[in-house]
Formats: sequence, C-alpha cells, structure tokens
Amino acid sequence: MPTIALPILGTAAAWRDAARGLLAAGVPPQDIVWQHGAVAADLFADAPATSGPGTATVPRSFVHLAATVCWHSDPERFGRLYALLWRLQGSDGLTQDHGDPDLAKLRAMEKAVRRDKHKMTAFLRFREIAPVSGRRRFAAWFEPDHHILEPVAPFFMRRFGDMDWVIATPALGATFTSGSISFGPGRTKPPLPEDATEELWETYFRNIFNPARLKVKAMTAEMPRKYWKNMPEAAAIPDMIASAGARATEMQSAAPTRAPARAAIIGRRLGMTDDTPPVDGLDALRRDAEGCTRCPLHRDATQVVVGEGPSDAPLMVVGEQPGDQEDLAGRPFVGPAGQLFDRFADEAGLDRSRAFVTNAVKHFKFVPRGKRRIHQKPDAGEVQACRWWLDAERQLVRPGLILAMGATAAASVTGKGQGIMKRRGTFEAAEDGTPVLLTLHPSYLLRVPDAGARAAAERDFRADLAAAARWLADHAA
Ligand code: URA
Repeated sequence: MPTIALPILGTAAAWRDAARGLLAAGVPPQDIVWQHGAVAADLFADAPATSGPGTATVPRSFVHLAATVCWHSDPERFGRLYALLWRLQGSDGLTQDHGDPDLAKLRAMEKAVRRDKHKMTAFLRFREIAPVSGRRRFAAWFEPDHHILEPVAPFFMRRFGDMDWVIATPALGATFTSGSISFGPGRTKPPLPEDATEELWETYFRNIFNPARLKVKAMTAEMPRKYWKNMPEAAAIPDMIASAGARATEMQSAAPTRAPARAAIIGRRLGMTDDTPPVDGLDALRRDAEGCTRCPLHRDATQVVVGEGPSDAPLMVVGEQPGDQEDLAGRPFVGPAGQLFDRFADEAGLDRSRAFVTNAVKHFKFVPRGKRRIHQKPDAGEVQACRWWLDAERQLVRPGLILAMGATAAASVTGKGQGIMKRRGTFEAAEDGTPVLLTLHPSYLLRVPDAGARAAAERDFRADLAAAARWLADHAA
C-alpha cells in the first residue's frame, strides 16, 4: 500500500501536489496511507509512479477547503480530503451538497482550524527577553489545537515586523530575526520571564472590563479557560468576576456627566472624531472576521464573507448578506444576484473591479429545507452586530459614494429603516456624511413574479446605477 509522508512544513502544498499526482495516476483513496511529519524529500517515498501533474479540474471552494483542513490535527484529514476529491471527479455539485456527511465533517474541520488561528492571533502574549543584536526580542508560548503556527506566522510577521521574536509551541517553533522567519522543532513550555508588559496587559484588561455587562458564559466562549494560563491579564479575571456585582451597582449610581450620543455629536462638530480603523488593513479585517462570534449566524454558515475590492475604491456597493453561493465561495455577489448586478453595472458603465463590494451582514442566514438552504432576512440585532465590520470596511476604504442595495443595506448604512421603495433613486448621507445612493436589491428583480412590475424594477435599477456612474464621473479625482 503506497505511503505518502507529508512534511511538517508546507503540508498543505505538499498534500495538494501529492493528491494531484495520485489522482492523475488513478490511485483510489483506500489504497493510500497518509503520514505527517516527514522531511520534504520523503514525500513520495513509497508512492506509485504517477503520470506527471494531474489535469483534473477541482472547484475553487474545494481548493480553499483543503488548504485549511490540511492544518487540522486529525490524522485522518488527508485521507478524508482525498476521498472527497476522488468523489468530486464524478459529481459536479458535491461541494454544494449540504447533506453530505463527508463534506460536513471537512467543513467542521475547516471551521475548527480557522477558530484556532483566530484564537492564536488574539491570545498569544509576547514577553521581552534579552536582545542578541540591537533589536528588541520577545518570546511567546502557545498551545494551539491544530498545526497552525506556519499558516498564522505571516500575521505576526506583519504585525510585529519591527522586532525579533520567537514563538514556541509543542509541535513547532518559529524564530523571526531581522525580518526573516525560520521554523524549528517544538518544545516544552520555556520558563519565560515576567516583564513590564504583564502589568500593562492586566491594567488594560481591567480598564476594558465592564462589570455591568458581564456574562461569564459568553466570556469563556470567546476566551476559553484553556488560554488563561498563558495570558497575564487572565490572573485578574476571577477577582473581576467576583467583584462585578458591586462594581456594576456603583456604576449605576454614578450619574453620567454627558449623554454618549450628544458627546459624539459635539466631538464631531469639534473635529474630534476618532475614525481610526479598528483593524490594521483589509487583510487583517478578513482574518479577524473569520473568528467573529458577534451574533449566532457564524454557527451555521460555512464561512464569513467580507467585502472585496480595491482599498481605495471610490464606490462601495453594499448588499444584504451572502447568499448560498457566496457562502460556499467565500466571496460577495458571485451568485445569481451578483451576476444580475454585474450585467446592469456593466450596462451603466460601472466598473465592478474598481468598486468595493460588500454586505451589511457577513454570514449567510438560512433555514435548511431538504438539501436546499433557504435565505432568511437578518434581524435588526444581527445587522447591528455586523455593523462593526461594515464600519471597519468603510473606515479602511473611505469610498466617495456608497450604493446601498435593498432595505437592509439602507438601514445599516444610513441608520434609517423606512421603506426602500420610496427612498430608492435618492441620495442620503451616512452618519459620517458620506453620500449614500439608495437602490433596489438585485434579488428583488429576480423575485418579482409579474413581468410588468419586473420591467419597472429593472428600469429603476438601471437608472440608479447610471446615477451612481454619473456621480463617480462628476467626482473623479
Ligand atoms: N445578496 C446579497 O445581498 N449579497 C450577496 O453577496 C449575494 C446576494
């Protein structure tokens, strides 16, 4: 039986290459033993001869799925992926079959890896250690559930590129020195020194902790107890929980000095708005959003779908939420509504590749019906929870014009929930003054049953997109 020994580093790429070769050679899943932990040269140690790189076509959603699942710790992950890949050759729609148990298992693994990566970026804590050269050096210990150090390392390289650091984990270590990274063996927990940042973390945590909003269950779901032992600020948690009741009562009895909404308006008038984006660029936003648990929609969706497009796009197009196809592809407006939008935008002279296309809500909300997933309108709480991400996208992109398509987008961007039919075709303003052109949602055009009403809706949609194109032409830099 051929044994494929995959390397610890570059596992996902090595699995992809091996799987391609095996598929091209027609080797069935049950004939392969997959191993993890070899050096790269051993990859095809015991494998059958293949006929060169495979020519099989594989859906993009599977490629993304495999690239993440390969980092899972389940020893069966490679075999499961290959078995699905094998089945995919005979069945086109398999990656969209939500009743398929093999696919469901792999999707669950994908989600677990994403969550683990998110937790590592959120909860890893560096401590300062003695410098070797002139640069400051830091070290951190982390115990991930999966093999995520390599795929998550670029995040730390970007975020902490101006210092040297070491991240130790039980399975692998990463050393970043003068801008270049290398990986070495794993180890046991090193005796890391306490340093000034410990106290800083604790002070920060005590300050952001709101005793009046304490929900221990939600807090431990977001910051599971297993991470606490390596987080300096966690030492303060038991005490803060114990004294939360008394502190909340104290806060309630202290009268506010200013109403928060009024303070915000006054601040804006005085030019004191804090419009610093809460995340460090669109890539960081995407990564952070992958771990979003702000509302329950993340539980059933395949993945988060954030906006895409140039970070300096003059136009931001906002829809409601990803649909079935967007949820699978991980990209906004790629399904029927997206195709309709593309066609009308093209006709109106709007270049989608120059627009930032996104949604008010970033996870697909649906109810399963047989093998289908039926779209559900997000409720006000879900829209409100997701506004954090939309606002962050707006702060990063700073579009000149926002095109809000449909009632949910209009409510999220303008804060007003009146009917879209009366408001469409008009310009309003977002809270920060950005002009917002309101229009119909393209899905509405797809759903209107009556031919006359559909023609009228199409006429309106066309007119609104043309108005957006005109606005952009008039305001071109
Ligand atoms: N409908 C939306 O509102 N957004 C999408 O991305 C797809 C369909």
